Amino acid sequence: MSAPPFDAFGYAHARRREVAWLCQNTNHLVPPEVVRGAIDEALDERRYEGYPPAAGDPELLERIAADLGLPGQPPFLTSGGTEALYMIARALLRPGDEVVATDPSYLIIHRFVELSGARTVNLDIYAPPFRLTADRVQEAIGPKTRMILLIDPLNPLGTGYPREEVRAIAEIAHDHHLLLLNDVTYRDFSPAPTLAAEFAPEETLTVWSVSKNCGLAGLRLGGFSAPAERRREIARYNTDDLGVNILAQVAARAALRSKPEWLPAVVRQIRANGERVAAVARSVPGVSAPAAPSWASMTILDVRETGLTPEAIQEEMLRTHGVFVRAGNYLSVRHGSSFVRVSFSNPPADIDRFQAAFPAAIETLRRRAGG
Ligand SMILES: Cc1ncc(COP(=O)(O)O)c(C=O)c1O
Repeated sequence: MSAPPFDAFGYAHARRREVAWLCQNTNHLVPPEVVRGAIDEALDERRYEGYPPAAGDPELLERIAADLGLPGQPPFLTSGGTEALYMIARALLRPGDEVVATDPSYLIIHRFVELSGARTVNLDIYAPPFRLTADRVQEAIGPKTRMILLIDPLNPLGTGYPREEVRAIAEIAHDHHLLLLNDVTYRDFSPAPTLAAEFAPEETLTVWSVSKNCGLAGLRLGGFSAPAERRREIARYNTDDLGVNILAQVAARAALRSKPEWLPAVVRQIRANGERVAAVARSVPGVSAPAAPSWASMTILDVRETGLTPEAIQEEMLRTHGVFVRAGNYLSVRHGSSFVRVSFSNPPADIDRFQAAFPAAIETLRRRAGG
């Protein structure tokens, strides 16, 4: 009998205090005092005993709408952006529909599309500019196309869309009467954040999250904003009928109240970390950081020329060095065996550990392989 595959997440969670978590784009840079008071107060009041306001805390809803700049579209709260993506796919796609998407991508969305009997048409973006272009979107549209998936900035590549490209893609959606699913989970890290809803308000469904910008991934809060009619259609698939986690709501409200005070320093640190990660990668023979500089909090390191697998690198980094990076197969059908993704919204000490571990891990694996 062969050994079961290495359970990287089981291993890492069991040792989470020692692990540098560079594998899920989670944000470990927001000062804890930003949310601690709000959570402590909610705990003191034992708010967890009761249900939250079903539609969400009114101030939180206002702050999200203002933060996004979509005042006419009341946010719909879900358990993480993930649930919003699921609801949208289930509610708006039908068997036979096609969704113009990418590879690499955040593939869970593709699975939701498939659950609805629809399919994604994955445009290969594993080459410069490592994102969609309006021309390619236009070419990919056929009689069955129902939706365009625009993740901006893009996980896992870290690339983002210049304003004019967002406008051009939004105009295509509008001209062809297509839905435009605009996932802006990493928007706060982008140097040029642009909502597609600005250009195609009737077609665009904006999915947002406080997991990455506010560093609240464990609390599971996100949602969507959409025109009224679409909102009603999507809301039919709501499973959080009794509201989403109250601790998440009070924490997100507190984080959004003070976001202008702490976000700039967080973004500066992320940029500096990203530059260091790319520099470390490029110092290792056979490794490149082809999509850097990142507009988000992660980038990919192409390891094809090392002859090593991303899974072997992930395992060696984690077991020997306690540094958790992610093998690419989770994020790309075609190119998953070419890269590892490294996220870096982390304290500089974690990046120090990556800097020491990555070259050493590649060296060890090469030696072991007899190279
Ligand atoms: C592009 C993208 N969308 C959505 C999510 C889901 O975020 P959450 O469910 O934590 O809000 C992620 C998480 O990594 C992501 O990368």
